[in-house]
Amino acid sequence: MSAKVIDGKAVAAEVRARVAAEVKELETPPGLATVLVGDDPASAIYVRRKHEASEEVGIRSIDHRLPADVSQDELNDLVETLAGDDGINGILVQLPLPDGLDPAPVIERIPASKDVDGLTPVSIGLLARGTPALVPCTPAGIMELLASAGAELEGAEAVVVGRSNLVGRPMVSLLLGANATVTICHSRTKDLGEVCRRAEVLIAAAGSARLITGEMIRPGATVIDVGTNRLEEGLVGDVDFEAAKEVAGAITPVPGGVGPMTIAMLLSNTLAAGRSVQTTAKT
Ligand code: GUN
Repeated sequence: MSAKVIDGKAVAAEVRARVAAEVKELETPPGLATVLVGDDPASAIYVRRKHEASEEVGIRSIDHRLPADVSQDELNDLVETLAGDDGINGILVQLPLPDGLDPAPVIERIPASKDVDGLTPVSIGLLARGTPALVPCTPAGIMELLASAGAELEGAEAVVVGRSNLVGRPMVSLLLGANATVTICHSRTKDLGEVCRRAEVLIAAAGSARLITGEMIRPGATVIDVGTNRLEEGLVGDVDFEAAKEVAGAITPVPGGVGPMTIAMLLSNTLAAGRSVQTTAKT
C-alpha cells in the first residue's frame, strides 16, 4: 500500500493566508529585518524568498547585507541597533555565518520578543521548560504538518533523527509538549534502524541523503523528511522516499514537504511578535 503524501505546499499556503488575514487586522504591519552576511548563493536565495513571502502577506521586510569580511563587532552592533528599533518586530540573522564570525554573540543580542527564529538562549529555555514563546520555524512547521496529517501524538512513540539546534533539539521539546514518548538519535546511535522501527512518528533531520531506508520504517508510521541534500540528481531527502512510501502511512516529499513550511512559520512568528507589541501598547 502506498502512503498518503503530505502536501507541504498546500499547508504552507493555508498558514500564509491566515497570516495575511491577521496582518490586515493590525494597525501597523509588522516589520521583519533580515541580516545576510557574505555572498553564499543558497543563503541569498533563502533570504530573497523570505522577503517575497513577507511582502505577499503584508509584512514589511528590511534587508541588511554585510560583506563576508565584516568584523564581529560591526555585526554585533547592527543586531543591537535592530534590537532597539521600535519599527522592527522580528530579527533574522541568516545562518551559517561566513568563517571567522561567531553566531553566538550575534544571536544573544536578539531580544526574545523579536526572536522570530527561536534561536536565542531565552527562547530555547522557554521551549525546553514547556512554556514556548517564539519557536524555531522548521519544527513549528512540522507540528503543523503532523496536525494536517491527523497524526495522533498523545502517547505516541516519536523518534527524531538529528540533534541540531535549528531542528532536532527543539523538535524533541515540541513533541514532548504534545505528550509523545520521544527518542532522539544521532551519529553515535548504535542501531539506528532498530530505534527508528519503533517510531509511530519519525522525524528525519540528520542531513544525510537517504539515510532512512524502507526497512527502518514501522508500517503505518507518519514520516517527516527534513533533509535537503543537493546531489547531482537533484534535491534528495534524508529518507529513501520510494521505498518508504510503500511502508509508511503518511510521508512528506522532498521538495514540497517541510521546505515550504519554514518560511510560512517565519511569517507566523513575525505576526505574533508584531501583535504582542501592539497589544501591549494598547492596554
Ligand atoms: N539557515 C538555514 N535554515 C535557517 C533558519 O531557519 N534560520 C536561519 N536564521 N538561518 C537558517
